Amino acid sequence: MLSRLIGGDLADLAQDPLGEFCRRSSRGGVVPLQIAFTRGHLVSDPAVVRHVLLDNLANYDKHTPAFDAVRIVLGNGMLTSGGAFWKRQRRIAQPAFHGEKVRHFAPILSRMAADCAADWEAATAAGAPVDAGTDMMRVTLRAVAETLFGDDMAGDANEINRVFPTILGCLASRVSSPIRPPLWVPTATNRRLRPALSSLNATVERLIATKRRRLAAGEQTEPKHRDLLTILMLARDEETGETMSDAQLRDEVMTLLIAGHETTANALAWLWVLLDRHPDEQERLRAELVAATGGRPPTVDDLPQLPRLKAVIQETLRLYPPVWMFDRLALGPDDLAGTPVAKGELVIFCPYALHRLPHLWSEPETFRPERFEAGREEQKNKFAYLPFSAGPRICLGASFAMIESQIIVGTLLSRFRVRLADPRPIIAEPRVTLRTSRPVILRLERAPLLPT
Ligand code: HEM
Repeated sequence: MLSRLIGGDLADLAQDPLGEFCRRSSRGGVVPLQIAFTRGHLVSDPAVVRHVLLDNLANYDKHTPAFDAVRIVLGNGMLTSGGAFWKRQRRIAQPAFHGEKVRHFAPILSRMAADCAADWEAATAAGAPVDAGTDMMRVTLRAVAETLFGDDMAGDANEINRVFPTILGCLASRVSSPIRPPLWVPTATNRRLRPALSSLNATVERLIATKRRRLAAGEQTEPKHRDLLTILMLARDEETGETMSDAQLRDEVMTLLIAGHETTANALAWLWVLLDRHPDEQERLRAELVAATGGRPPTVDDLPQLPRLKAVIQETLRLYPPVWMFDRLALGPDDLAGTPVAKGELVIFCPYALHRLPHLWSEPETFRPERFEAGREEQKNKFAYLPFSAGPRICLGASFAMIESQIIVGTLLSRFRVRLADPRPIIAEPRVTLRTSRPVILRLERAPLLPT
């Protein structure tokens, strides 16, 4: 095994990453880690998290091996870029993701949720189980793609759906391998990635060109008809007046497609697992839905009346944060609460472990959504709860993901009770995102809250 030859802590981490991160984090503070030839520091102290992600942000960037591995697909988009370039891109994109603006996209999310409910109805009628993991991937990919491209995408949806699993699989192989040859080297991964990526690139470039043409022809200029790509294309940097070039738009579109769907899909897959383990919680959520909507699927306007649903999603993200680990590269020396950090060293965050520290979370292994009820102490330290990271580089799509999750889960729960078809345990598998160890196959009981 290559990681054993390279040495350091890589072998232990490769064996059981989640267990190893939890064990090392439990000592608290800042713990050294040797990753191949690079020295790293695992941070488990919220004050130090704050220092790196907020107070001394300028001393850290994303040129770490993990981020370098995904640049082949994401290019220099918002997730992977840094410095002044990232700041400008974020400034341009940010307004489209403000809570109020995200509401503009909510009808798309409701439609995707309704389509999924219709598929689940058909499966129930046929007495068949559903593969919730695959369904959540499909719904969240369609949601982000339709939000980006609007009705331009119709003919391309199948192709995007077809190539995405290959692209995600190849990115996972690259992230977990210490050797990442450029795309032209004919490795097994590259041979699969190349055709999938060139197909996706061609689709995205065509969609960008179509959008430019339609805008030039004076179509889709009314704000209520604008999809996200139009918003990004028309947005001007407040400071410089610049707009994004086609190449920048391509990288941002790829970034939003990738950052915006597998994360949410995995969170939702875990949520169904947790609701199987806690049938009482399903009933509680269904009662909340009846009280808020009378039993019809919730819209974005109903969400303030569904605090328990939001808390269940937040608790799912605590126990199973899709981005279970992320890191930064130190650009210069720093001091992390007494631990010196040198230029070129890595600072590593493991939300999965941080969210399980007993001095920060009571009964950390227990599913207790009430810890996210308004005013509770536990959720007040935003540097102890990092499903979306924190500071200026906090997830751009956090509001989108929360609204999307609430609408999808609320819609499905208002029509079904769910149980896992196979009661054997499902454990967490840390890939690029935190996956379930086996498919989440659900047996559904048709139980509409609104009489049909
Ligand atoms: C439950 C779902 C999601 C989770 C758990 C999640 C988590 C994260 C995390 C942890 C980061 C920070 C990574 C780092 O700094 O190293 C991030 C960044 C980002 N996410 Fe999300 N994300 C989710 C959904 C979304 C959605 C729906 C979108 C877009 C539609 C999105 C777009 C982005 C972008 C563009 C960034 C880069 C932000 C920047 O660096 O300025 N994410 N996300």
